[in-house]
Amino acid sequence: MKVIYAKNYEEMSKIGCELIVKQVREKENSILGLATGSTPIGLYKELIKENKDGLDLSKVSTYNLDEYIGLDKDHDQSYNYFMYDNLFNHVNIKSENINIPNGTNDPDVEVIEYEKKLREVGGVDIQVLGLGANGHIAFNEPDLELNVPTSIVKLTESTIKANSRFFAKESDVPTTAISMGMGSIFSAKKILILISGSNKEEATKYLLDSNKITTNNPASLLHLHHDVTVVIDESAVKVK
Ligand code: F6R
Repeated sequence: MKVIYAKNYEEMSKIGCELIVKQVREKENSILGLATGSTPIGLYKELIKENKDGLDLSKVSTYNLDEYIGLDKDHDQSYNYFMYDNLFNHVNIKSENINIPNGTNDPDVEVIEYEKKLREVGGVDIQVLGLGANGHIAFNEPDLELNVPTSIVKLTESTIKANSRFFAKESDVPTTAISMGMGSIFSAKKILILISGSNKEEATKYLLDSNKITTNNPASLLHLHHDVTVVIDESAVKVK
């Protein structure tokens, strides 16, 4: 696991973007695994700039980690809406190359079809992740058991609380989601996890210091993947 300390959010975003740009320059039809949330917004802004400056993304395809169950794709809090708003509306990635779980399809069918698509492409080339304050990655919440394939998940109280900042009230936050499982995430050839936010300190310390893995901190399992880069916004997460 390679760990890079960035001096602030902007630097973290630039370093993250450089890795994506390198990937696309090496392989123009790269498959990118993407995340939502506050952490990767800066990376997406940088990628939009790169695209305007000539980086062609027309052959790239994308797979998102997760989506709330029950939110229509045009709902302003759906992850589909987030991705178009923060990235896809501003770059030349083709809409037919964009894959996001559909929150209004029958979830039992959707999880199987989404996982099948991921398996057929052989996993993404590089997966962008954020870190949940409780150590979750995608919506793989701390638990005794973790899902291997894309699955229906129940969000924990702490995640519902954390995500309620985007909704009018906490009771509006969906309580279930479709999420790539640990196996889906681990099928990525490379993983890039960005960490920013003062509430991430404890989960980050465990990830970096413990030399141990536990399903109570799903991100700690990343120690078992052969190509993981962690980029930490030091101004937001005091870990050294
Ligand atoms: C987003 C996702 C989540 C977030 C995590 C951190 O697609 O799967 O795991 O990456 O909750 O969220 P932020 O970046 O908002 O702190």
